[in-house]
Amino acid sequence: MRELSDVTTVGVVGAGTMGNGIAQVAATAGYDVVMRDIEREYVDNGLAAIDSSLDRLAAKDALAAEPATIRERITGTTDLADLADADVVVEAAVEEMAVKRDVFADLDAITDDDVVLATNTSTLSVTEIASATDRAARVVGLHFMNPVPVMDGVEIVVGERTAPAVVEFAHAFAAALEKETWEADDKPGFVTNRILMPWINEGIRAYDEGVAAKADIDRGMTLGTNVPMGPLALADHIGLDVVLDATETLHEELGDRYTPAYLLKRKVAAGDLGKKTGEGFYAYE
Ligand SMILES: NC(=O)c1ccc[n+]([C@@H]2O[C@H](COP(=O)([O-])OP(=O)(O)OC[C@H]3O[C@@H](n4cnc5c(N)ncnc54)[C@H](O)[C@@H]3O)[C@@H](O)[C@H]2O)c1
Repeated sequence: MRELSDVTTVGVVGAGTMGNGIAQVAATAGYDVVMRDIEREYVDNGLAAIDSSLDRLAAKDALAAEPATIRERITGTTDLADLADADVVVEAAVEEMAVKRDVFADLDAITDDDVVLATNTSTLSVTEIASATDRAARVVGLHFMNPVPVMDGVEIVVGERTAPAVVEFAHAFAAALEKETWEADDKPGFVTNRILMPWINEGIRAYDEGVAAKADIDRGMTLGTNVPMGPLALADHIGLDVVLDATETLHEELGDRYTPAYLLKRKVAAGDLGKKTGEGFYAYE
């Protein structure tokens, strides 16, 4: 397998919201990047988004190099074959299993056997995506958060066959992009979306059922639970289509997620209410 120190070129599949963000942080970290989308227009839009993002960061003195220097490291293409020399590939195409499986089968055919293939899927099975290749051990989930240049975290998703060395590589690669990581098993929605998606959907339902005005729902959740963004503003920020796709996948896989967990009911019955009683899911002084 490629060592992190051998990595010079990063392939990115998809030049949309996530793909161009991933390309940007990889180039900012000093890697050469080849970013592919299916139409030249999408590639150009992705490159333009990177230009504006780099300019914004430079205006805030938040870049270690000149925007032009970083930008020169990124090549846009519509030809997947241009990713043949990549040392690691991150796929950020649309959230559709058939599309991702086709992309991975093609990547399997054109890249070296020891290349790590990562998917940025929000909710789909990494194991099922990996099975479109002959190297499932070298396939891992690298779930970046939106907006990629701003958010510090990357969720590492471990498929059924992902090799431990590849998991280790994924953590190290994310760290090289100045991201912090946590690990999740390949179960629907992993950690983040399994919890976030029902939260957003409940915010949408609360609005639809007249619980409060849109602004009050978002204000209530930001001021009330100390999150930086309320559910409706966050849904707009993520993309309503992305939220819908993710929610449909979770619904199909997990069914009704609003039934209180048995452990939660049991802890409450026992009087273990969290910090205020000194015992909840954690113990407190
Ligand atoms: N938007 C988010 O907040 C977010 C967060 C984390 C993960 N994700 C995941 O990242 C992935 C991309 O999401 P996005 O928000 O960037 O979507 P997007 O719609 O902005 O971009 C997807 C891009 O993929 C391109 N594409 C489709 N088929 C392709 C192919 N075969 N080869 C190359 N490009 C192809 C599309 O033309 C489009 O430009 C999805 O799997 C999504 O679930 C999204």
